[in-house]
Amino acid sequence: MKVAALIPAAGSGTRLGLGPKAFVPVEGRTLLGRSAAALTPHVHEVLIALPAGLDLPGDVPGRAVLGGDTRQASVLALLRATDADVVLIHDAARPFLPVRVIHDLLVAVQEVGAATAALPVADTLVRADRAGDWGTLTPREGLWAVQTPQAFRRAALIAAHEAALADGHAATDDAGLIARAGQPVALVPGDARLLKVTTPGDLLLAQALARVWDAEAS
Ligand code: C5P
Repeated sequence: MKVAALIPAAGSGTRLGLGPKAFVPVEGRTLLGRSAAALTPHVHEVLIALPAGLDLPGDVPGRAVLGGDTRQASVLALLRATDADVVLIHDAARPFLPVRVIHDLLVAVQEVGAATAALPVADTLVRADRAGDWGTLTPREGLWAVQTPQAFRRAALIAAHEAALADGHAATDDAGLIARAGQPVALVPGDARLLKVTTPGDLLLAQALARVWDAEAS
């Protein structure tokens, strides 16, 4: 069974404001370099979707693929560039990836066909009105925050992507496309360290986390 890691890293990083987000360094290593290095020992190949005009830095293991205008388009380009049986898709923007999560996903994808890291929601959830005032309380019981990595049989995910493309359907992640195609997705325990670096505040958290992470690894 051939396994490929696919890393969408073609985002512009608008909310962070420091140029293409995957190339932002955290304690001396880019988000992309950290994500790619975490996956490399567990897969046969690593493919990385990049923005037009950018090359892979020399210290990032993997093969570059031209990304698209959306994350969904970038992932489809990656899927078309590999012949692997199973794909592990992981956002470059989540640089702290525990080995345990990778192992759990590779077991679950064999049993179920699709699996994602996810964590139970801890906060109280409310849908606000346009003015930002308290609207409808949503009980958090049974709600999960979906993270990456996510693992799939490649053939099933390509079919789900192509169906979404034909319908003009936009999704924020790949598990959502498999669910839309009527197929099951297993939830495996995620990890708080799998935070997605999106805002300047997230970057501060990532810098603090990187010091602990790097000390544990050394
Ligand atoms: O923007 P957001 O943080 O949700 O992006 C999640 C991941 O998708 C990031 O790693 C980003 O680089 C990637 N992405 C992409 N192509 C795009 C937009 C986002 O590969 N056009």
